[in-house]
Amino acid sequence: MALRNIREMGDPVLNKICKPVKEMTPRTKELIEDMFDTLYESNGVGLAAPQVGILKRIFVTDDTGDNPLVFINPEILMSSGEQTGYEGCLSVPGKTGTVTRPQYVKVGAYDADMNYFELEATDLLARCICHESDHLDGHLYVEKVEGELYDTESPDDEDEDGEEE
Ligand code: NI
Repeated sequence: MALRNIREMGDPVLNKICKPVKEMTPRTKELIEDMFDTLYESNGVGLAAPQVGILKRIFVTDDTGDNPLVFINPEILMSSGEQTGYEGCLSVPGKTGTVTRPQYVKVGAYDADMNYFELEATDLLARCICHESDHLDGHLYVEKVEGELYDTESPDDEDEDGEEE
């Protein structure tokens, strides 16, 4: 198990456009394993390679804790509907904000063996795929936040606002 350092907002690596992966190498395999280790250690839902300082078009997700997925050179092929909800990012610790995303996406990508697959996703996984895809083009969710960015760490705010879901 190897953890990678998560880069935080302000680090220029998060604003760069990532390069496509041409072939799977032992180094890239190791990167993907480390990304999963880092994702689970951080209790995240998704992690993109630039978040650990690597400018490759790779992200990993796990929306249930038991559904690890690797997306290499992903393309969102179709999207529809809307969902509006809170979003956060391991590169923007302690913050959350409201973002509207498609309710449904169809994505095409390569897996860790460089086999092409297509996947349909809704709800949290659709949101996550959009969020992580944005990372590969140098974008953070804070650019899309509607209204304010809130602190997640203030102890009592759920009582004050009464906006638990
Ligand atoms: Ni993120």
